[in-house]
Amino acid sequence: MLEARAVVKNLHAYRPPLAGRQGLRLDFNESTIGCSPRVLERLRSLNAETLARYPEREPVEGEAARVLGLDAAQVLLTNGVDEAIHLLCSTYLEPGDEAIIVVPTFAMYEIFALAEGARLIQVPAGENFQFPLEHLLSRISDRTRLIAVANPNNPTGAAVACDVLLKIARSAPQAALLVDEAYFEFHGETMLNTGTQPANLFVARTFSKAYGLAGLRIGILAGDAKQMAMVRRVASPYNVNAVALAALPEALRDREYVGSYVAEVIRGRAELERELRNLGLHCWPSRANFVLARVGPAHTEFVQALRRRGILIRDRHTDPGCEGCVRLTVGAEEHTRALIEALREVVQSLDLRREIEA
Ligand SMILES: Cc1ncc(COP(=O)(O)O)c(C=O)c1O
Repeated sequence: MLEARAVVKNLHAYRPPLAGRQGLRLDFNESTIGCSPRVLERLRSLNAETLARYPEREPVEGEAARVLGLDAAQVLLTNGVDEAIHLLCSTYLEPGDEAIIVVPTFAMYEIFALAEGARLIQVPAGENFQFPLEHLLSRISDRTRLIAVANPNNPTGAAVACDVLLKIARSAPQAALLVDEAYFEFHGETMLNTGTQPANLFVARTFSKAYGLAGLRIGILAGDAKQMAMVRRVASPYNVNAVALAALPEALRDREYVGSYVAEVIRGRAELERELRNLGLHCWPSRANFVLARVGPAHTEFVQALRRRGILIRDRHTDPGCEGCVRLTVGAEEHTRALIEALREVVQSLDLRREIEA
């Protein structure tokens, strides 16, 4: 009988709650207004020939590299950051190698590392989700071949300083350090401009969040040209589809659209954090387009009560250190206002304030 590899049989199926997402979707950190109208116009102009041909990634890769101030050889367009993680794991991890992550964090690092047969080392974040630099450094060994850090992190919204990440890269030259900048636009700091880049540093970006293109599946992996040549060997030449490739240059050109959405989200994030605290809910300062808040034992009822009001948020209480926590995406101003109104009603209807104070 055909059997999957043992490491695959041992993986837990990762099933994000994608079904029935009707309403205001503040559960996946997507854009609440969608992509630039210029992108939509470009997509409407596509014809049968575009779809009949195999997609040519390189010219668009060149444009993306120019925008980032990099050489084309340093950049690979990917099928979202998910694929970038997968490719790095395939390129660098042998069975028995060690991959280090700081938890809680994004689920796909664990899945792709374990699928290669790597040993996963989970370093817990410190108090208030502070980055556990010393602990992480103490777990680096000769077998460490991948270290993945989301900056800002999902689901906490916490950020790490670039010099800390550089220190990690230099402390583990035998390991690929992935700095996942999926939420870069809402944070503003990047590892791409830190002067001399260590050859083991990789930076990933996505168009799924600020650019409103999660459905197209497109991201960027950037790194040292020689290392990227290795990563390219395991990538399909057609990993990014023709529709995504057609849309990307227009998305990159319409900076004003993304810039004004990001500014709106950053304003809304401050407002949401203030409101959550006013309502007596603890939340952590976020550098991304979402806020993690502690609701307590009523987290399930909280999520359901918001759903009944047409707003979807994500229960994160099973993430390490996130007992009783939910994650709320920040979107456009009107959507944040609707969220805040619903939060006021829900906190009152569940009598949460009294529960928290008790
Ligand atoms: C930290 C982080 N990295 C990557 C992703 C996935 O990005 P993409 O849609 O480009 O695969 C997410 C999505 O939630 C994320 O939070």
